[in-house]
Parts: sequence; C-alpha cells; structure tokens
Amino acid sequence: MSGIRLTGVSKTYGRRRVLDGVSLAAGTGILGLLGPNGAGKTTLLRVLATVARADSGSVGLLGRDAADPPARADIRRRLGYVPQETGFPSGFTAFEYVDYVAILKEMTDRRTRHDEVRRVLAVMGLEQVARRRVRRLSGGTKRRLVIAQALLGDPRLLILDEPTISLDPEQRLRFRDTISALAEDRCVVVSSHQTEDVAAFCTRIVVLHEGRVRFDGAPRQLAATATGRVWIAARRDPGARLAWRTDDGRLRQVGTPPPHARLVRPLLEDGYLMLLDATRPSAAAASA
Ligand SMILES: Nc1ncnc2c1ncn2[C@@H]1O[C@H](COP(=O)(O)OP(=O)(O)OP(=O)(O)O)[C@@H](O)[C@H]1O
Ligand SMILES: [Mg+2]
Repeated sequence: MSGIRLTGVSKTYGRRRVLDGVSLAAGTGILGLLGPNGAGKTTLLRVLATVARADSGSVGLLGRDAADPPARADIRRRLGYVPQETGFPSGFTAFEYVDYVAILKEMTDRRTRHDEVRRVLAVMGLEQVARRRVRRLSGGTKRRLVIAQALLGDPRLLILDEPTISLDPEQRLRFRDTISALAEDRCVVVSSHQTEDVAAFCTRIVVLHEGRVRFDGAPRQLAATATGRVWIAARRDPGARLAWRTDDGRLRQVGTPPPHARLVRPLLEDGYLMLLDATRPSAAAASA
C-alpha cells in the first residue's frame, strides 16, 4: 500500500475526544478533507504527518507502521507536510528557510541540496524572492514558501493543511495545477474550507465532523446528496435553510423546497451543508 491506511484511530485531548475511530485508506490521488472548525482535521493531518501520535488504532503510511520508530524515520524522509500554522526562524531569507528544512530532512550534500532548494522555489514561482527576508514577504508568498518546503526531496506522501489559505486567485489555480500533476503518482491529503477548490481537484472527499468520518466518496456524490434540496425563486420560501441573491436577481435557496419549486443542480457545498444538517438535526430544525 503506497498511501495511507488508518484503522480505528482515536485521539483525546484532556477529556475531549478529537478523533473518534477514524478508518481511512487512500492510495494515489488527491483526498480532500472537509469539516467545520474544530472537526479534527488538523489533528488527523498531524497524525498523518507523524507530528502527533494516535492514542489507539493503527496508522500505516507508505506501507510502514507509524508507531514503529525506525519506520517513522523512514516515513518522515518520504513525506511533505504543510501545517495549518507555521512560524519562521527569524532573520532567514526565503532560500535559507527552505535550505534549513532540507538540512533537517538530512540532505547532506550541499550542492545537491541547494539545487533541490532552487527547484522547489521555482515550482512555487518564488525565484524572485529567494534572497528576501521571510518576515518581509506577504502572507500569500509565505504560504507558497511553506508549500515549497513540503515539496523537498519529491515526497511520496503530501499532507497539506489548508494550503491555499491567503493565496490569490492566480496562485490558487497554479497550485491546483502543481498538486494535480504531483498526484498522478503519489498520495496527497489536503484539508480546505474552499469547497470550489476541493470540487475542482480532489478525486475523493472525506467529511469529518466531531472526530468522525461522516462522508467518504466522490465530490459528485457529495453534491448529489442535495439533489431536490436546491431551488431558485423570486422570494425567500419558508423552507429555505439558507438563501442568497444571485447575479440574475433571483434567490438561490437550500433547504426544503415548496411544491413545484424550480429545482437546480446542487453544488458540492450544498451537499456538504445538507450532510452537516443531517448530523445536527436540532440545529437544522431550529433554523428552518
Ligand atoms: N494540542 C491540543 N490540546 C488541546 N486541544 C486541542 C489541541 N489541538 C486541538 N485541540 C482541540 O481539538 C479539536 C479539533 O481541533 P482541530 O484543530 O483538529 O480542528 P480542525 O478541524 O482543524 O478545525 P479548523 O477548521 O478550525 O482548522 C478542537 O476542539 C481543538 O480545540
Ligand atoms: Mg485545522
């Protein structure tokens, strides 16, 4: 198995069960992780990146057992990770920062390492800022730098926690291109709150809620769960859970349509909303 295989993974912080029996297997391709704030996405990705340990269950990464220390060292060499939040060593230039991560990844030969640092900076379009201090870079440029370091050494497994946060639209499209190409022959797991990103480039979606997997399937299947629940009308209907005016002046509504409503094709985010409503029936009832 070249990707990931989790079985019954649980993790507790204090008395709070943040991951609750997560089982998940994935090979080549892009797995998108969706879920509300606090659902456990970052915790799950930290387990996949071997930064956090599961309390119970098994974590297989790149065909090795992450609980076994020698295997873990091997996994880390073949894995790239973009954390949700990052600090930077102060005073480093962009080049020095990526070079520093490369040293931590045990790339010992200076010349080969520097070639690799230049390569990943180029992949993320950062050649022009290589000599600039990291603290002087814009938020989106820093984010691209963090993605660049994750690509060092051509990892077989990429764990990306909200990588597209603060990227401008052009950079987000470039990122899609880069990641789609990489996922042709490796395993990429990416969390995002941008449903259009997830719909565009993920081959599979997992929705996590309160530490449990609530959906696992193709983006199209998640959208299809809202079939018959999205409609357009001139005025807000009582069954609308959410409604907003679109560019043609009509209201697009999601919820329980009135009889003979003009149904439209649901998007991934509609399916996501309906799924969360189904797992939180009281909240849906209160707002309906
Ligand atoms: N180190 C920690 N110590 C204690 N609680 C933690 C720790 N890390 C996470 N938690 C808690 O675990 C839960 C899940 O957090 P996590 O960061 O995994 O969620 P998330 O799905 O990534 O959310 P977001 O969309 O906001 O990034 C939250 O309730 C959080 O407060
Ligand atoms: Mg998170």
